[in-house]
Amino acid sequence: MNIESVKKELEKDLLNVNSMNELNDLKVKYLGKKGLITELNSNIKNIKNEEKKEYGQKVNDLRNTFNSFYEEKKEKLEKEILDKKLSSEAIDISLPATKIISGAPNILEELIEQVEEVFMSMGYDVVDGPEIELDKYNFEMLNIPKGHPARDAQDTFYIEGEEILLRSQTSPVQVRTMLEGKGEKPIRVICPGKTYRRDDDDATHSHQFMQIEGLLVDKDISLSDLKGTIDILAKKLFGPETETRFHPSYYQFTEPSVEGDISCFNCHGKGCNICKNTGWITVVGAGVVHPNVLRMSGYDPNKWSGFAFGFGAERLAMLKYDINDCRVFYNTDLRESKTFDRKEQD
Ligand code: DAH
Repeated sequence: MNIESVKKELEKDLLNVNSMNELNDLKVKYLGKKGLITELNSNIKNIKNEEKKEYGQKVNDLRNTFNSFYEEKKEKLEKEILDKKLSSEAIDISLPATKIISGAPNILEELIEQVEEVFMSMGYDVVDGPEIELDKYNFEMLNIPKGHPARDAQDTFYIEGEEILLRSQTSPVQVRTMLEGKGEKPIRVICPGKTYRRDDDDATHSHQFMQIEGLLVDKDISLSDLKGTIDILAKKLFGPETETRFHPSYYQFTEPSVEGDISCFNCHGKGCNICKNTGWITVVGAGVVHPNVLRMSGYDPNKWSGFAFGFGAERLAMLKYDINDCRVFYNTDLRESKTFDRKEQD
């Protein structure tokens, strides 16, 4: 091919380039190893000496034409690609944003997890028990025989006859854990779980609520071990300045029985609504495990002793997060669960 025909073909080809692929194909066609311009160039050896200069000049011009077209077209095509991409990804920043409503852990769950962590750090296991329970475990083996007036304190949902019920407390998990220990193993467990009583629902009562039961059985355990344990939890949950005290109480399954109070985190003893002007708030029922209870579950009370306690989880959460209606824990309205003050008190 001579210079003129290559030039003509090039002019024609240049009109038909519409993509980067076509442009690169053209580069191969003209400037590749066997490209038309490359061939014109190597053909210079066959040109007469006096025409070599002019010939070389023309081939050079052709190459320059190609190269400048190539650069220009490349830039144009790349810009087109970019523009297309930008317009397809365009964000209209004047549009109102969709509000993202993120979930949050249920505040009661969160409190229970905090309590679990405190006890796990003291070597306790977290255990579970059934919510549909036998009368035997819920009452009898806790030293509350059939017909005992202590049953009146827990208005119970019976499911079938007198034997199967919805557990009215988490204390039957104590019995189950001791039966598993077979009178041989020391025990340290806490058991958070649902409990049920025939109560009318209002701001402070619910037919279903959560208790956090605890049981420790070992050698030479006394009431002061219980006091120290409750004190650790109280300080973790309500702040390091919190104090604890016990006052006497009565439960069939503990002897002695106590109720544990914490110093009022709100008024620090000056008197306020939360502590009903006493400076103290009752948060737990507890005591030293009654010898009958140990014995019935296979632990020899001459060798073993222990303490037990039961917190009302809703009550703890209501105090900690300043909530005055326990029904909010079971409400699925996210707007409510967002408003709680979740500040940690370490
Ligand atoms: N089960 C008791 C109740 O529901 C709470 C309780 C009191 C649990 C004393 C205990 C305890 O383990 O030792 O009222």
